[in-house]
Amino acid sequence: MANENSQVSFFTQGKIGIIEINYPPVNALSQQVRQGLVEGVDKFNQDADIKAIVIRCKERTFIAGADIKEFGKPPTVPFLPDVVNHIEASEKPVIASLFGTSLGGGFEVALACHYRVAQKGAKVGLPEVNLGLIPGAGGTQRLPRVVGVGKALAMVTQGTHVKVEDFVDTNLIDEIFEIEVNLNEQTLQYVESLIESGSIEVKRLGFQTVEAGSLDWDAEIAKISKKARGKEAPLVAADVIRKTAELPILEGMKIEREAFLQLRESEQSAALRYVFGAEKSSAKHELNAQPVNVESVGIVGAGNMGSGIATAFLNAGYTVNLVEQTEDALRAGISRITKNFESNVKRGRMTQEKADNLLAGLTSSTEYASFSNCDLVIEAIFEDIEVKKSLFTQLDKVVKPDCILATNTSYLDIDQIASVVVDPGRVIGMHFFSPAHIMKLLEVVKAEKSSDIALATAMTVGKKLRKMSVLVGVCFGFAGNRMYTRYGREIQQMLLEGASIEQIDKAMTNWGMAMGPLAVQDLSGIDIGHNARSAQPFPEHDPGYFRAAASMVEQGRLGRKTSKGFYIYDEAGKASSDPEATRLIKSKAQDLGIAQKSFTDNEIVERALLALISEGLALYKEGIVQRLSDIDVIWLHGYGFPRHKGGPIFQARQKDLADLSGKFDELRASSSELIWPAVDLTLID
Ligand code: 3HC
Repeated sequence: MANENSQVSFFTQGKIGIIEINYPPVNALSQQVRQGLVEGVDKFNQDADIKAIVIRCKERTFIAGADIKEFGKPPTVPFLPDVVNHIEASEKPVIASLFGTSLGGGFEVALACHYRVAQKGAKVGLPEVNLGLIPGAGGTQRLPRVVGVGKALAMVTQGTHVKVEDFVDTNLIDEIFEIEVNLNEQTLQYVESLIESGSIEVKRLGFQTVEAGSLDWDAEIAKISKKARGKEAPLVAADVIRKTAELPILEGMKIEREAFLQLRESEQSAALRYVFGAEKSSAKHELNAQPVNVESVGIVGAGNMGSGIATAFLNAGYTVNLVEQTEDALRAGISRITKNFESNVKRGRMTQEKADNLLAGLTSSTEYASFSNCDLVIEAIFEDIEVKKSLFTQLDKVVKPDCILATNTSYLDIDQIASVVVDPGRVIGMHFFSPAHIMKLLEVVKAEKSSDIALATAMTVGKKLRKMSVLVGVCFGFAGNRMYTRYGREIQQMLLEGASIEQIDKAMTNWGMAMGPLAVQDLSGIDIGHNARSAQPFPEHDPGYFRAAASMVEQGRLGRKTSKGFYIYDEAGKASSDPEATRLIKSKAQDLGIAQKSFTDNEIVERALLALISEGLALYKEGIVQRLSDIDVIWLHGYGFPRHKGGPIFQARQKDLADLSGKFDELRASSSELIWPAVDLTLID
């Protein structure tokens, strides 16, 4: 048929012209899709027998946005703003038939249509801020016209996906169809009935005025700014909506487009778009195996970690059998798990009924034999290699032959743990981050003999848990904690060289880290890392190695749990500076003969980043991670690295390589090759 292309087809049914997009996976607005939309609208407008036009999609969703693959390439005509305006200008009514997730440019296409019908549960949204952008094709203009400025402002600045049912009190959705019905048939029936009744009309949202309501703009912008935590796009979006609220649509769209194009060139948007791709890649692997179908999961250890892991599995609908050594320990664990669910109910994340149903999947025992039917058993006991080896010897005897055995160890050698079972192929690491039911990161650790089946199973389970799963190899601390140790070492060294506790934490949080590194130490317990490091030989070439932390531990200053660490805490848990902590560090520096100097905030951030980059590149070179972008995913999801800064490797790529190389040389010259080894910067070139 004339004017069709491989991604867009045209059909007719009676008096209705149908434009059907088929561009898997998510019907993004490629050049061909945009072209097809324009040509379809023209074609049916010229056909005297056609009274209305339906835009619909095949496969899994209505259009999910502009084609991210085209970003970074020179833009091609027709441009999306022209496409949406062309649709809105159609003389014949255009109806969008929504299902799945109609996002970004996809939702903007729908807003340009004269009617929107949807399947129940379909979601719409303008998530451009998540990519460091704002809507660029009328989203900031048409959405306020149909749902009001307040709701539009929230949707655009937060980038949320909202169920169509939530708009019943607005004119956004004309008809919602039940989930069981055939959407295409229902849409056509609906349009036919409008045509038959003569009530069908061309309703152009762009022609409506915006109802500004009584919005306190300054207060709204202050709220948005606080939530944005350094991200530019939400504030730009708010500014555009505020500036254009009373302008005619085409003038408003011009301002919107300029802001969109400017943001598209920004480093933040480049970072966020990179992260989108990096996250998708991290879940991919070349494991050549069918995963075990996991339904029943065993967890050994009901402490904080074990309870968090159990909560995560129950949340995802697994049945969980929790084992502890004593009934008391079990009771404490079950109480922690129950509290996690109570908190979800209190925060409105789930109903009490759902929480009860999920919790019904929990059983408990003090006997390992109760794992006999489990498909996967995860060990989350304390970090002692001999105790873990003994546990795995026992587990090996009671579980099914195809049961996967995972350890949640943060640092210990999984090859050694695996050596005690008859088939070490079944042993892997599943390293969760605390609190395990909240933190998104999961390191799936491949030990020397781990089978592809075991690894593929863990990766599949990770996806079901909605974790960001990254496949890593065995080394001390795996990928994340090995980098964290290097980062911590540099922070500690800067303390000894004269940077203050407060300045370091402030410099890092102002830059965007979720928490200051020393406040994190206090929160997790300074003794935890100290004990883990003590199990390793002290690096004699690095006399200051975590000595500030050691001074705290020696004085019983373990962090929040002892009300004192790098900071001092009052009864309400509020942190304050403590001159005693500073004195201890200064005295340690003096003992070690370390000269004192002052740092700028930039110097602190830069040195911390250089440490991360150096260790990240080493991990990649050693094959501990599959791809460099995995380093970034790990730091974004496990360590509070700011998403809009892309991750340590993304940051390295933004720097001039000769300059970067010079900085590494300086650090090496001022300390030693063992602390700052040669870095292969060609890896990021
Ligand atoms: N363009 C191109 N490809 C896209 C895409 C897009 N907008 N959105 C998703 N994809 C691809 C993914 O890369 C992935 O590819 P892969 O299978 O090769 O890895 C595939 O679609 C499936 O994506 P997910 O794995 O994420 O599948 P989910 O079902 O979990 O989620 C989704 C689907 C909700 C659509 C999610 O992918 C998503 O949020 N996508 C981004 C949507 C978005 O940001 N749209 C706005 C774009 S900017 C814009 O429109 C500007 C405009 O205002 C001018």
